[in-house]
Amino acid sequence: MPTHDVVIVGAGLAGMRAALEVCKAGLDVAIVSKVHPSRSHSGAAQGGIAAALDNVGIAERNMPPAKISGENVDEKVTADTPVDWRTMEGKPAYEVKNDSPLLHWFDICKGGDYLVDQDAAELCAFLAPQLIYEYEHWGCAFSRLPDGRIAQREFGGHQAPRACYAADRTGHACLHALFEQVMKNAKKIKIYSEFLMLDLILRDGVCGGIVVYDLRTGQLDVIRAKATIFATGGYGRAFSVTTNAFASTGDGVAIAYRNGIPLEDMEFVQFHPTGLYRLGILLSEAARGEGAYLLNGKMERFMQRYAPTKMEKGPRDIVARAEQIEIMEGRGGGPNKDYVYLDFRPIGEKRIREALPQISELVRRFVNLDPFKEPVPIQPSAHYSMGGIPVNIKGEVVVDTQNEQKIIGFYAAGECSCMSVHGANRLGVNSLLEATVTGYLAGKSAVEFIQGGAPLPDLPPDATARADAELKAILNNDGGENCAALAKELKETMMEKCGVFRDEDNLKKCLAKIKDLQVRFRRVSISDKGKTFNTALQDAIELGHMLDFSEVIVVGALARKESRGGHARLEYFDMKTYENIRDDENFLKHTLGYKEDDGVRLAYKPVKIYKFKPEARKY
Ligand code: FUM
Repeated sequence: MPTHDVVIVGAGLAGMRAALEVCKAGLDVAIVSKVHPSRSHSGAAQGGIAAALDNVGIAERNMPPAKISGENVDEKVTADTPVDWRTMEGKPAYEVKNDSPLLHWFDICKGGDYLVDQDAAELCAFLAPQLIYEYEHWGCAFSRLPDGRIAQREFGGHQAPRACYAADRTGHACLHALFEQVMKNAKKIKIYSEFLMLDLILRDGVCGGIVVYDLRTGQLDVIRAKATIFATGGYGRAFSVTTNAFASTGDGVAIAYRNGIPLEDMEFVQFHPTGLYRLGILLSEAARGEGAYLLNGKMERFMQRYAPTKMEKGPRDIVARAEQIEIMEGRGGGPNKDYVYLDFRPIGEKRIREALPQISELVRRFVNLDPFKEPVPIQPSAHYSMGGIPVNIKGEVVVDTQNEQKIIGFYAAGECSCMSVHGANRLGVNSLLEATVTGYLAGKSAVEFIQGGAPLPDLPPDATARADAELKAILNNDGGENCAALAKELKETMMEKCGVFRDEDNLKKCLAKIKDLQVRFRRVSISDKGKTFNTALQDAIELGHMLDFSEVIVVGALARKESRGGHARLEYFDMKTYENIRDDENFLKHTLGYKEDDGVRLAYKPVKIYKFKPEARKY
């Protein structure tokens, strides 16, 4: 039974960045991952990682002058925020000619439709430059300006060219730079690759490690630790059309939830505007940042109707809704009029080859089209989860409505966590940043905790009992339900009834379906009873996870009777102005979903607003 100071689950940017922080302090750290670290989904991120480096001027790109508004709401709330990271003083509304962390911070708060916890966004914006330079110093292969500085491009909702990029393989470049650092410290960082986490060891509010299943041998084991960090990524796989890797099944989120930890803001799921039609494969927003157009079935640049100044460079929630409205109103392309087009041609062949080599190749390989010559069918695709395991700005898991009650020794970082950096809608290229920042913070906090004398919690005698029962229930079941069929029903229902637009009727149907699938799931049987790489068993375990957290998404969406960011309810959407109808009076609050025997119990907690006052979100 292995024991470490810190065990981290997940080997993407958040997990590996946390591991380096722990290793730097001379502590013993392990990373557990169901895939090899270099296969982590962070590697699929394409367009960039945000930081206000100000390497490319706003005017240089012909962008309108940036504006900050609604400042200085309630400075008292800053008491517990690390103000020493702030390098600029706020002033009342003023024009910003070039980029700054303050402007980045504002863009995040506005982009997140003011559901952002402003202390979390502040940290992200202000820590970004130093963490990007750290990647640079590790040799991350960023694209460069002629003078050698990191190149930066435009992304939706950012008022400056802020996306540092490595062509359209930024996640890959960052992931490998981090993996090299982990390898450099291979003697100090133990990697459990191809181990599936099945449970959390949690007793009396204290976390003592995890229960794992070795996919190679079928062995169940416990990894004990003084501190446990979840960095298990997102859960786009609960939807039928997604940009997410097969591994993005929300395991950490579901396991936390089963252990009594609430899930926060799960109704906010981001749909990326440009996933390849039906396949969901990501075609980076960088294409639009570089000048690609969106066209409907009549070959019109339809963004004129929805965001006439920003056009294709509007924030993702707005662009995804615009596409969906074009489709709903019969202006889509193809025989079923169920997609729109991304037209790369305005970028020009030379720049496409230079800046977007991967996605142009993906188009050729997966849909056999030539992006230099013809528009490419795309559709909104489930991409990112704004919600997750609630954490404070130190990455500590908090379970109450006041952010005060911590689970001792338990941390979360990256997409599985909800520090509410992004609120109701994440801006592009803030995901790799958030993974890096929150990984760093969680690692740092775990170190502080252990150096403060944290003991190794006792191991409960029944630590593996639940995981063992879960495995046996699947392996010994002869109920006859087929796992793949159930998964397909879940994903299609989530896509259709809890997608870009939702409404009460569809959400109720979706919930009923999930409840029905949860019952049928108890009768899932698999024919492979083996112990070595039993992928049927793994699929079933992952489906169980998806069925659990999908219920929280839908229950949260039903209760949130407004539209905000990525959560758009047709009943609260103005089809004339194409704007969300937000209800700050009743819903400017975070949702918490707790697991009860008969379903999800909801509670709400306040949003931390102390710098930028919520305003109408116009672009
Ligand atoms: O479109 C993209 O390249 C995705 C970036 C992101 O989600 O941050």
